Amino acid sequence: MPDQFEALRQAIEAAPLDSEEAVDRFRIAYLSRKQGRITELLKQIPSVPPDERKAFGRQVNLLKRRVEERIEEAKARLRTARTTPKPEIDLTLPGRRPLTGSIHPLTRTLEDIKRVFGSYGFDVAEGPEIEDDWHNFTALNFPPDHPARDMQDTFFLEPPDRPHGGILLRTHTSPVQIRVMESQPPPYRVIVPGRVYRNESISYKSYCLFHQVEGLCVDEGVTLGDLKQILHVFARALFGDDVKMRFRPSFFPFTEPSAEVDIWWPDPADPAGGRWLEILGCGMVDPNVLEAVNVDPERYTGYAFGMGIERIAMLRYDIKDIRLFYENDVRFLEQF
Ligand code: DAH
Repeated sequence: MPDQFEALRQAIEAAPLDSEEAVDRFRIAYLSRKQGRITELLKQIPSVPPDERKAFGRQVNLLKRRVEERIEEAKARLRTARTTPKPEIDLTLPGRRPLTGSIHPLTRTLEDIKRVFGSYGFDVAEGPEIEDDWHNFTALNFPPDHPARDMQDTFFLEPPDRPHGGILLRTHTSPVQIRVMESQPPPYRVIVPGRVYRNESISYKSYCLFHQVEGLCVDEGVTLGDLKQILHVFARALFGDDVKMRFRPSFFPFTEPSAEVDIWWPDPADPAGGRWLEILGCGMVDPNVLEAVNVDPERYTGYAFGMGIERIAMLRYDIKDIRLFYENDVRFLEQF
């Protein structure tokens, strides 16, 4: 007999009363007047032998009370679940990462360039992107109709019949050399970052606009050795202490002598392989340029250089297509 009560007690405790239907079924199974299991037991009491009757009745009543308690509890629980609003925030969702943004690779490269030259006493100067012919070409020793102008085809906004020639989108940052020297007496030691424009056919390696950093240093006794030294410092800062560089003779109207600077780019797949890559143009400021701005070329000498920021950034970050810089695709930008 005790076994029978124990099994029943366990079944009563284990019933999952998680819906109103389940509670109904539970009540009918134990308490219904026709076939409820507790009802059956209650009916049996009169036929139990008298000496066991009292204990038997007590057990049955305990079970009955327990069934009633469970029904009450379950009903109360289901009622609160029904009337309490569900929370609007799902606390089980993973968090959303805030969009933090990052510095554009061109800005980052420019900041690095500024830091190197800043530590050598170069100020930062700027000039207009809409220039006149005098500053962009003539004062830089590109005479009108000189073929060197063909290297830098641009967009003209006004025709050439004006005091300073036509108005154009500047093709390089070199005109700011002229503007700096027109505005104050020597010495000069500036770098000039800025946007420049060319009439180029657009491809992975050229675009109608890009960015340059110009450098100008004019003082008494400035030599080609000074130019080589500062550019070497620069190349080491950006490309590492063991960078190999070379000066290759070249031509620019506003410098004499002129050179292009290449750095050696090893081939990661082939220890013996690699190639020279041009990173900038430079030279000693042509006396004609100093004369154009009334600086005495007998007393002052100087050097100048100019580089494309895109070119440097593409090398540093292994970017294969210049157009990526301007598309503002976050999948590109968030890599920096
Ligand atoms: N302005 C030249 C260009 O855009 C680059 C350049 C070359 C600048 C030599 C310089 C220089 O100051 O000395 O192609």
